[in-house]
Formats: sequence, C-alpha cells, structure tokens
Amino acid sequence: MTETAAPPPAEAPAGNPQAGGATMLVTNPVLQVRNLVKCFPIRSGLLRRVTGQVEAVTGLCFDVGRGETLGVVGESGCGKSTTGRLLLRLIEPTSGSIRFKGEELVGASSARIRALRRSIQIVFQDPYASLNPRMTVQAILAEPLRVHGLWCEGGARRSGTSWPRSASTPST
Ligand SMILES: Nc1ncnc2c1ncn2[C@@H]1O[C@H](COP(=O)(O)OP(=O)(O)OP(=O)(O)O)[C@@H](O)[C@H]1O
Ligand SMILES: [Mg+2]
Repeated sequence: MTETAAPPPAEAPAGNPQAGGATMLVTNPVLQVRNLVKCFPIRSGLLRRVTGQVEAVTGLCFDVGRGETLGVVGESGCGKSTTGRLLLRLIEPTSGSIRFKGEELVGASSARIRALRRSIQIVFQDPYASLNPRMTVQAILAEPLRVHGLWCEGGARRSGTSWPRSASTPST
C-alpha cells in the first residue's frame, strides 16, 4: 500500500509532499499517520538468509478526525491488514510515525501500548477467527471489556444484562 489517496477538503492543509500525491489531512486529528513503511524480509536457503524484502506498506500518510470513518480499499496483498496491525503496534514499522491523540506510538513502551489498547482495537475480518462459536454473544462482547476493566458486573446481576460503564443503554 503506497498511500490513501483522496483529494483533501478545501479547508485542510496541503498534502505531505514527501509521500507524493494527495493526502487526507484534518485539523486536530485523532489519528495521524506519516510516511509509514513496513518491509518484510524474504528468507531463503538452508540458513534462511535474507535475500530480499516485501514492501507491504510504503510512505503511507493520512489523518482521521474525531467521528470520522476511514475505509481502506485495495486489491489483495496491497497492505490493508498490515496497516491495521501497524496502527495497533502488533507489528513494528520499518519507519514512519503514528500519532494517536497527539501521542507518538512508534517507539512507545509495551506497557503504554497495552494501556492504549482500551482505545485502539481491531475487529478481525474472518468471523471464525474473531467469534468463538462455543461462546455466547454476551461472553464474546464482555471478554475484552473485562480485560480492560470496563465491564459492569453489578448491572449483570441486577437485570440479567450488562453494559459497559462507558456505554449507554440503547433507547428503543
Ligand atoms: N508476516 C509477513 N511476512 C512476509 N510478508 C508478509 C507478512 N505479512 C504480510 N506480508 C506481505 O505483505 C503484503 C501485504 O499483505 P496484507 O496482508 O497487508 O494485504 P491485504 O491488503 O490485507 O490483503 P487481503 O485483501 O488479501 O487481506 C503481501 O504481499 C503479503 O504477502
Ligand atoms: Mg487483509
């Protein structure tokens, strides 16, 4: 993936000239990605020597503002999943910058990244990898909230349903 290309809105600052082409930039972005690069080594032979590299993501730049949704579309192997994994620091970028609410994630400690996973998460596209058919929907939804201390057990006991502390009960 080389770049998310879309013409910037008229009021947005000009795109990053280093990456080339149009760049989506917004004022006070929640997520700011600059010149993100990920190369995977290609190993071959008995000693598994590095003989080349796959440039999965090269010079990716984009901003996501509060309340915005960014869709990434491209052919198979263009780097969509790699980009997602980089944003969560599930894999280390070769170079570049990822800022979440102004905080640089590249080079941040694993403890800090663990804390930020309350706010930055991934839903895997393969339902059999992300949804366990032996668990109830409530158990699946509750598991990550429990891990991050956001699940309200008291509510579950009183009403039979439980809502995370940060979420509101939907009005019907
Ligand atoms: N761990 C890895 N080691 C080596 N190469 C990898 C690794 N992960 C991804 N790649 C390569 O990086 C490129 C981008 O892969 P990626 O999985 O990000 O593509 P994608 O856009 O998500 O594709 P799809 O639409 O099929 O899910 C591909 O050429 C892939 O083979
Ligand atoms: Mg993918």
